[in-house]
Amino acid sequence: MNRHIQVGVIGAGYWGPKLIRNFQEIPDAAMTMVCDLEEDRLTHIKELYPAVRATKDYREVLASDVDAVAIATPIPTHHQLAKEALLAGKHVLVEKPLTANSEQAEELVELAAQTGLTLMVGHTFEYNPAVEYLRRLVASGEMGRIYYINATRVNLGIFQPDINVVWDLAPHDVSILMFILGMVPVNVSARGGSYVQRRIHDVAYLTLHFPDEILADVRVSWLDPCKIRRITVVGSKKMVVYDDVEPTEKVKLYDKGVDVPPYSDTLEEFHLSYRYGDITTPAIPSAEPLRLECEHFLHCVRTGDKPRSDGQDGLEVVRILEAATRSLLNGGMRENVRL
Ligand SMILES: NC(=O)c1ccc[n+]([C@@H]2O[C@H](COP(=O)([O-])OP(=O)(O)OC[C@H]3O[C@@H](n4cnc5c(N)ncnc54)[C@H](O)[C@@H]3O)[C@@H](O)[C@H]2O)c1
Repeated sequence: MNRHIQVGVIGAGYWGPKLIRNFQEIPDAAMTMVCDLEEDRLTHIKELYPAVRATKDYREVLASDVDAVAIATPIPTHHQLAKEALLAGKHVLVEKPLTANSEQAEELVELAAQTGLTLMVGHTFEYNPAVEYLRRLVASGEMGRIYYINATRVNLGIFQPDINVVWDLAPHDVSILMFILGMVPVNVSARGGSYVQRRIHDVAYLTLHFPDEILADVRVSWLDPCKIRRITVVGSKKMVVYDDVEPTEKVKLYDKGVDVPPYSDTLEEFHLSYRYGDITTPAIPSAEPLRLECEHFLHCVRTGDKPRSDGQDGLEVVRILEAATRSLLNGGMRENVRL
């Protein structure tokens, strides 16, 4: 495809306009159509981008000559919209999480394979240069054997009426963990509380067991006074902290560890086994992850390459969210990710 890729965006609430801005700014894309159910959202987008065609009916987008659609609507609508878009011959970028359950995600993955169209899920952090750095670092072996990972994503957040905090925030951390480790967890346990809205968890603690005895815990909350977006990876040789709230020095690599001596008869000898080395701050490029995600989507549409966050990746995340949900409801028992 030599010409501009024509893109339509469905959903122009909080996140949709960020996709629209990026597709508008990318030189080889033409941001041609936007759809939302709310008139005021369409008026807002038309004010910003007068050339964009606006409609309240997503079927008009699917019937148009756009090559690709990006879906940024509430989670329960993802499956139907993405399915119809694929059936209409459009390449599809769906916001995270891919769907509301794994059967729906499986159907989309199958449909994308049958039609040969690109199906990508908006796991934005997989395009974050700091997260890419962590993946390369882990893969290089420089950290030694990975012991465990801690991820915290909390603040006084936007309460969602129809989904809990696990489905809202944990897709980010779960996709980051799988991306960094290059593996899928075997089982998940989760505990949480519903404090503000009845039966909708606003606080959750997830524990994911990966192969090779790697443990990961994820804390997500809409009910915390401080905004924390931090991931700590602890390896046998090095430890690394990625703090997304830090404006510039987001990643710090600690040459710290504990080397257990074969024998330690005295306390002094035992203390010698602690290693306090340098703390380094790697230079991380400061690109907007969503811009990189949108560019990657367009690249995949153009070339047929498999997206980094493809439908299968989206399906794995949904399976993990489902397992976490089962565990939340059964008192924190371990739930297998694959049934
Ligand atoms: N990748 C990220 O970092 C990130 C961040 C925030 C939200 N999101 C995801 O983006 C999606 C949207 O979240 P949001 O916070 O923008 O929600 P939102 O409620 O602010 O916006 C959703 C919009 O979709 C519109 N809509 C609903 N059904 C529609 C339909 N059938 N046709 C057309 N428009 C329809 C609504 O009118 C609304 O304006 C969710 O999947 C969410 O998880 C991703």
